[in-house]
Amino acid sequence: MISIGKADMLPHMKLSTAITRMLDIDHPILLAPMGGVAGGALAREVSAAGGLGLISAGYADPAFGYGSDEWIRGEFDKAGDHEVGVGFITWALSKRPGALDAALECRPKAVMLSFGDIEPYVRKIREAGATLICQVQTLKDAREAAAKGAQIIVAQGTEAGGHGAERSTLPLVPAVADAVAPIPVAAAGGIGDGRGLAAALMLGAEAVLIGTRFFATREALGHPNQKALIERTGGDHTLRTKAFDTARGVTWPEPYTGRAIRNAFAESWHGRDDELREQNPSMRKRFFEALRGGDTDMAATFAGEGLDLITDRPGAGELVARIAEEAIDALSRAQSRFPGLDPAGG
Ligand SMILES: Cc1cc2nc3c(=O)[nH]c(=O)nc-3n(C[C@H](O)[C@H](O)[C@H](O)COP(=O)(O)O)c2cc1C
Repeated sequence: MISIGKADMLPHMKLSTAITRMLDIDHPILLAPMGGVAGGALAREVSAAGGLGLISAGYADPAFGYGSDEWIRGEFDKAGDHEVGVGFITWALSKRPGALDAALECRPKAVMLSFGDIEPYVRKIREAGATLICQVQTLKDAREAAAKGAQIIVAQGTEAGGHGAERSTLPLVPAVADAVAPIPVAAAGGIGDGRGLAAALMLGAEAVLIGTRFFATREALGHPNQKALIERTGGDHTLRTKAFDTARGVTWPEPYTGRAIRNAFAESWHGRDDELREQNPSMRKRFFEALRGGDTDMAATFAGEGLDLITDRPGAGELVARIAEEAIDALSRAQSRFPGLDPAGG
């Protein structure tokens, strides 16, 4: 349940929810652990502003330029005294489970696991005192995560940037909230401003997990060309595809695909994975060179349908405050818009 105060108290208002209370944070806003984007500096800013920052260790594979034990430790160092968490891609963690030990040594406030069976890791994470967050894409997986010990469940809709599946945020979030109660749910996918946060709370979520909007912030990792592309591209111009993964030699299990901005590479190679595979290993090399060099015609810029809401590049802390204020404003205006709703008769 959320609680908000009177409109004249708005500047001092906080949205208190089951998740803010569980994590002891001020705002129900979690930074998505975006591979190659969410490092220690971004996570620190989000936590310092009263949300929860999550560093992405992604595939826990140093070949990506992030995710080695040394990288993980270095990013936690950048977060300084601020409490942050860490996220892993679950099916990839099985190839290098030691990365979880390296992360737990950094005393994360939370560990988020996405895409795969959490069972082998639940006990270790919870015994280390970290809150276990699990991101799911279906009702079935939500029930399974709840049964296996997830403490917060993120219901991720297909609108989301990066990897995901087919169900949409609007119907998925309330269904998951009902199915796993009393375990609190965070909504993810297409949320980029306070209206989205307010709507998610009305759907029964106790927080939001936001990715794409935080990509276009000053502290995000990622090439400036990618940030500029995000700022000028709209939500009509994304697609879900396997092409970028095939190009970089990553085989994702079914049913996952990645949502990214349509570019020349995607226009040419989407749906041609067998042919693309034949181009490797040279394609893989070219892909990583394009990513490093900021060639957004070839490299993937993973981003979601919330792109329409992104036109600037603020500091991440400023963004957390802005989204929280907008949500409080939207929720409090609901009463003046529909006066009969005011329990005091206003
Ligand atoms: C650039 C980018 C990279 C991502 N990388 C990861 C990742 O490494 N691990 C993960 O669990 N989710 C990843 N995601 C998905 C997020 O966890 C989250 O579900 C998504 O960003 C929410 O939707 P939104 O982008 O519309 O806010 C990524 C998303 C983006 C945009």
